[in-house]
Amino acid sequence: MSASPFGLEGRQVVVTGAAGGIGAALLAAFRGAGARILACDRPGPGLEDVEAERRFAFDLGDPAAIDEAARALLADCGAPDVVVSNAGFTRAETLRGWDADLAAREIEVNLVGAMRFTGALLPAMAARGGGAVVCLSSVNALLHVGNPAYSAAKAGLLAWCRAIAVEHGRAGIRANAVCPGSVRTPAWDHRIEKDPGIVARTARFYPLGRLAEPAEVAAAVLFLASPLAGAITGAALPVDCGLSAGNHGFVEGVLGG
Ligand SMILES: NC(=O)c1ccc[n+]([C@@H]2O[C@H](COP(=O)([O-])OP(=O)(O)OC[C@H]3O[C@@H](n4cnc5c(N)ncnc54)[C@H](O)[C@@H]3O)[C@@H](O)[C@H]2O)c1
Repeated sequence: MSASPFGLEGRQVVVTGAAGGIGAALLAAFRGAGARILACDRPGPGLEDVEAERRFAFDLGDPAAIDEAARALLADCGAPDVVVSNAGFTRAETLRGWDADLAAREIEVNLVGAMRFTGALLPAMAARGGGAVVCLSSVNALLHVGNPAYSAAKAGLLAWCRAIAVEHGRAGIRANAVCPGSVRTPAWDHRIEKDPGIVARTARFYPLGRLAEPAEVAAAVLFLASPLAGAITGAALPVDCGLSAGNHGFVEGVLGG
C-alpha cells in the first residue's frame, strides 16, 4: 500500500518560483508525497540553496533563457509528470501613478513567461501519456483588489489552464489553477517595510479573519496535481479564507447595521 495518499511517489514535479515563500511550501508538500523535485527560479543564491533533484535557473522575462531551460529539462529529465507554474511578482499596486512599462513587465513575467515555459513542456507530456499542470493564479483574477496588470496576468492564467484542459484533455493532461488570497511571504516584504501594520489590517478584510498559510496553498496544489483530482480539469480553486465569497463589510454595513 502507498505511504502517501497522493499517488506521486517517484513522480517528477517541476516547480517555478521554487525559492519563494509558497515555493518552499510546495517543495515540502511534494517532497512529503515522495516526488522528485525539479526546481526553477531566477539565477541566484535563492535557487542555489533550494534542496531539489535538479535546479534550473532562468528569468521568466527572458524568452531565450526559458526555451533553453525547457530544452535542457526535457533532455536531462524527460517529460515531467507535474508542472507547477508558481513564479510571479507585482509592484504596480493601483492605477494611481500608472506605469505602462512596469505593467508590461508584470504581464510578461506572470503570464507570457509562464505560458512560454509550461507550453514548451506540454508536447513531451502529451507524447508520454499525460500529466498535470497547476498554475498559481490569485484572487486578483476573480475580483479587483488592486494590482491591475498583475490581475490581468493572473486572469490570463485561468484562460491558459482552460486552454490546456480543453486542447490536451484527450492526451491525458489536466490543468487547474489555485487562486490564493493574501499569503505572508517575501512577496509582502516591500509593503511591510513601508507599512508595518499592513498584514494585520489586511487580515480584517477576510471572512475567516486571517491570511492563508503557504502550506494551505501548497496542499491545494498537491491535491490538484494528484490522481485524487483525476476528474478535475479547467478549474480555479480559491484558497482565500473566503475573500471571493462575498463582502462582509457590505452585509454588515448595509443590512446588519
Ligand atoms: N503571497 C501572496 O499574497 C500571493 C497571493 C496570491 C497569489 N500569489 C502567487 O503565488 C506565487 C508565489 O508567490 P510567493 O508569495 O511565494 O512570492 P515570493 O516572492 O516569495 O516568491 C516568488 C518567486 O518567484 C520568483 N520569480 C519572480 N520573478 C521571476 C522571474 N522573472 N523569473 C523567474 N522567477 C521569478 C522569485 O525569484 C521568487 O522565488 C506567485 O505567482 C504569486 O503571484 C501570492
